[in-house]
Amino acid sequence: MPKRNFRIPEVHDESTLTREIAATRRRLHFHHRAALTIVILGAVLISLFNVMALATSIGQNPPDEEDTPCALTSCDTDQLFDIDDAISGDHTVPETPPTPILDGTEKLIALTFDDGPHGILTPRLLDHLAEANVPATFFVLGTNAAARPDIVTRAHAEGHEIGSHSFRHSQLPRLSLAALRADFAATDAAIVAATTVAPAVFRPPYGLHNATVRNNSPQALILWSIDPRDWADRDAHIVYNRVVDQARDGAIILLHDIHASTVEAVPWIITSLKTRGFTFVTVSQLFELRGITLEPGRAYLHAPPAPAPDPEIETLPTDPGLLDGDPLH
Ligand code: NI
Repeated sequence: MPKRNFRIPEVHDESTLTREIAATRRRLHFHHRAALTIVILGAVLISLFNVMALATSIGQNPPDEEDTPCALTSCDTDQLFDIDDAISGDHTVPETPPTPILDGTEKLIALTFDDGPHGILTPRLLDHLAEANVPATFFVLGTNAAARPDIVTRAHAEGHEIGSHSFRHSQLPRLSLAALRADFAATDAAIVAATTVAPAVFRPPYGLHNATVRNNSPQALILWSIDPRDWADRDAHIVYNRVVDQARDGAIILLHDIHASTVEAVPWIITSLKTRGFTFVTVSQLFELRGITLEPGRAYLHAPPAPAPDPEIETLPTDPGLLDGDPLH
């Protein structure tokens, strides 16, 4: 408070002095009361402010120590992903590492296995693929899928793609239109029964197709760009060497999970190609990552290479691998 200068009374006589002292006391008393009033008013205002702040805080988040994210098993979905958590970045992170996110610039390659599922060899192959955490595509025969649906169910559940390879491995251009359509329908039904998902890809037996086969196929026709002839040479070393020698970005590798030598070669192929920087994907993933929408009735040999390839990377020609001509061979 600023210092006050009180007038010093001019003393003329005793009675005047007494009056001046009394007046001075009254003035001092008035100033003390004014100061006290200001202090009390200030205290009241501060109290009011605190009460209002308390009222505003009611209904907001509990204090931090009560806001610790709960374990997955004891949380409901709303709690885990509510908007406040999302904003604060304070949500629970699952312990399982997420699947790597690919953008198509990787060196991609697709393993495909035809003619199964085989009762013994396909589960063995699935074990190898699971151990290496590698997805593949199985072009199953409808008759085998119907006989061993549990293996198809397992392959699908473990992240592999299930494609159609016809019902009985017929030479499809030789079938009547009715028989061709019945073959497609029966194969797709066997796959749906095992996976609940309709196949998105189809590989004609022997690679044989004509306009009738293409026009009636519910799926895109997936051929291949690497054929190690594993059905002719039942030797794991030969199969391994032929595959790794021809490996290219965007390639589709033709193998058969009905030959023990092929299943034996798969872990070697995976290790070798991973060391060379390849990423394994399913056929549908391969084309999707390269920006190609697979069209039913069109035939594909391989996917185009990465959009901006490193000059060091081995690549196939930039065409999308379309093959609309008559039977391959
Ligand atoms: Ni076949």
